[in-house]
Amino acid sequence: MRLKQCHNYHDFRELARKRLPGPIFNYIDGGADDEVTQRENTRAFERCDLLPSVLKGVSEVDMSVTVMGQKLDMPIYCSPTALQRLFHHRGERAVAAAAEKYGTLFGVSSLGTVSLEELRQKHKNPQVYQFYFHRDRGLNRAMMQRAKEAGVEVMMLTVDSITGGNRERDLRTGFSIPFRLTLGGMIQFAIKPMWGINYVTHERFRLPQLEEFVDMSGGASSIGGYFTEMLDPAMNWDDVAEMVAEWGGQFCLKGIMTVEDAKRAAEIGCTGIVLSNHGGRQLDGSRAPFDQLKEVVDGVGDKVDVIMDSGIQRGTHVLKALSLGAKAVGGGRFYLYPLAAAGQAGVERALGLMRAEIERGMKLMGVTSVDQLGPANLRFR
Ligand code: LAC
Repeated sequence: MRLKQCHNYHDFRELARKRLPGPIFNYIDGGADDEVTQRENTRAFERCDLLPSVLKGVSEVDMSVTVMGQKLDMPIYCSPTALQRLFHHRGERAVAAAAEKYGTLFGVSSLGTVSLEELRQKHKNPQVYQFYFHRDRGLNRAMMQRAKEAGVEVMMLTVDSITGGNRERDLRTGFSIPFRLTLGGMIQFAIKPMWGINYVTHERFRLPQLEEFVDMSGGASSIGGYFTEMLDPAMNWDDVAEMVAEWGGQFCLKGIMTVEDAKRAAEIGCTGIVLSNHGGRQLDGSRAPFDQLKEVVDGVGDKVDVIMDSGIQRGTHVLKALSLGAKAVGGGRFYLYPLAAAGQAGVERALGLMRAEIERGMKLMGVTSVDQLGPANLRFR
């Protein structure tokens, strides 16, 4: 299978599976516990149907949106995700460049493998900086200051990861940073030599957002360990209110699920919220963001920009979310499999196919701009 033969999410996933060592593929592909939430995130879109209008004159379609003060040429963006240079040696560099080509926003993670400054300098499209709340308050302040100086447009605090999700696939393979593999895991690396050659012949693996603060060299620190040891489970609304005030710009919370929390986010000055269950990687059994979207938009849609992620695989999923009032949607695995499959060319292909799906879907729905989509375009069964 080659990139040209990838026509959808599932095709990219298959190609990524062929290219990546098993432990790395499973880190991307897996979720928490029984992965029920991960599956339901996408199924949620399949429980409702679009209602098209016809004969509307749809030769020109404008799918641009404005979200948290940023104009995006398409309503889906690349969510911040960790460790991208493990998936392809160009990592965030490839994703940011592809997102720039399609005029959309890209996220840089605290656990990113290219510095937020380098990416901010090289690309014109808006950048989100994903942030965790550490026990060390000095570290939090220093990280925010860095992002401010770099000129990052949007701060995104993840609020659903104060402890690590139970990712049993990672426990089985021994996936951790730096690597500490089980025998089976090592065999998986040995049978994917191209990945290994690229990994060792390119720039050393780094975590430039964190390395001046965290020593990752002394033994294996797993992702779960980082969450559990470094992040502060005591984080509360007062702490976050302080951060929002200190940032003084576009600030959103990722991982909000209830109307009540969404209201509080608005009260403390957040300009956006991302309905998310972290792609089913944290609390298994939690509700799909799409199922919660209408309630939250009805509750706070006039006060903050409501965004959602988790489970989006198709242009029609994006149209359904926009119909219920999302200002934009994020995707993670949506571009990570393409990144692993073929680097920047893979991410560009995924964004291009998504763009074509959204455009075709809008034409078939009889709408020429995103603001023409509303709850009347949808029926739940
Ligand atoms: C994850 C974290 C790092 O889901 O966001 O693996």
